Amino acid sequence: MANTFVPGAIWPDNNGVHINAHGGGVLLHRGVYYWFGEHKTEGEAGNFAHVGVHVYSSNDLYNWTDEGIALSVVQDDPAHDIAAGCIIERPKVIYNAKTNKFVMWFHLELKSTGGYGSTSCSGIAISDTPAGPYQYVRSVQPNAGKWPMNVLDCHKEAVCPEVQETEFCGGGLPAHPDEINLLGKNFSAGQMARDMTLFVDDDGKAYHIYSSESNSTAHIAELTDDYQGHTGKYMRAFVARWMEAPAIFKRQGKYYWIASGCTGWAPNTARYSVANSIWGPWMEVGNPCVGEGADLTFGGQSTYVLPVAGKQDAFIFMADIWNPENAIDGRYVWLPIAFEEINTAPGIKIAWWDKWDLSFFDK
Ligand code: DGJ
Repeated sequence: MANTFVPGAIWPDNNGVHINAHGGGVLLHRGVYYWFGEHKTEGEAGNFAHVGVHVYSSNDLYNWTDEGIALSVVQDDPAHDIAAGCIIERPKVIYNAKTNKFVMWFHLELKSTGGYGSTSCSGIAISDTPAGPYQYVRSVQPNAGKWPMNVLDCHKEAVCPEVQETEFCGGGLPAHPDEINLLGKNFSAGQMARDMTLFVDDDGKAYHIYSSESNSTAHIAELTDDYQGHTGKYMRAFVARWMEAPAIFKRQGKYYWIASGCTGWAPNTARYSVANSIWGPWMEVGNPCVGEGADLTFGGQSTYVLPVAGKQDAFIFMADIWNPENAIDGRYVWLPIAFEEINTAPGIKIAWWDKWDLSFFDK
C-alpha cells in the first residue's frame, strides 16, 4: 500500500501497472475519488485516442484501482465522432444531482476532419454510475450565435472574407492579433474549444472553461441545469494571453485559475490568477511555482486542482509530464498548494517535493 505521493515517478495501480489517465481530473462521489484521464498507448500514435477515457477509483488518493475504460472510442465506424484515431483530451466528469447523471466533457478533434485543431470542439458523454460505461451524447462548438457578455463592438462587425476563409493554427505568438476577430469568425458555427476543464460552484452552477480563438483567449461558459449544454452566457478571459491547460478551484470565496502557456507538449511557465467571481475581473498574479524547476512547472503542465475531502484549505495541483514520443509513459506531478498573502492579495505557492503525503495539510 502506498502512503506517499512521488511526483514524476511511475505510479502503479492495483495491478502494478502505471496509471493511464493523462490530462485528467478527479470526481469525488460518496467518499470515493474517481480519476478520469486520456488512455494513451505506446509510441507517437498514442497521442491519438485508440482506446478512450480511463478511470480509476481510490479512497485515499495514494492507491488507485483500475476501473477500466469509462468511455470507449468506436472501433468499427470511422465516421463516428469518437472513432478510434480521433483526439480525446482532458476529460472531466461532474455529477448532476437534478438528473442523477454523471456528465463527462472532453476536448474532441474528429478523425474525419484531419487532426489537432481541425474541429476544436467538445464531446459530451453521460452515465448513471460514476465509473461508467459512459454513452457518447454529441459534440458541440460552444455558444453558436451568441456573443459573450464582454463582447466588443468591433467583434460584431462583419468578418472580412479573407479572414473567414483562413485557418489560424494558433499555438503561440505572433499568430494573430485580436483585431483579426476570431470571435466573430466563429460566431455562427460556434466557438473553438480546446484545452478545457469543468468547475461546479457552491450554488450548483457548472462552467465549461476552455482555450478558444485558436488558443489565444480563454472562454468561461455557463452550463445548462443538466450540465449537458451551454446556456449562451459566457465571457472572454485573458484576451491574447495564449493559455492552455486551465485548472480552477475556489477557496474561501475566491476563485483561482492556474494555466500554462502554449508550447505544445513541452513545459513552460505556469500562471495563476485570482477573482472574486467566476465572471471576473481576473487578476493575473504570476507563476505559482517556486524553487528549482519552477520556470518550467517542474516539467509538467496543469490539468486539475483537486480539493482534498475532510481537510481545510487542502488542494492538490495535478500536472502532466507529457512524453509525446511514447505517450503511455507520461508521468504525473501532484503537489500540494500553499496559500499566502502577496501585497495583501491572496497568493499561492507550489513547490517541488520528491515525496510528500497528506499530512502536509495538517501543518
Ligand atoms: C498542449 C495541450 O495542453 C495538450 O492537452 C495537448 O493538446 C498538446 N498541447 C498537444 O500539442
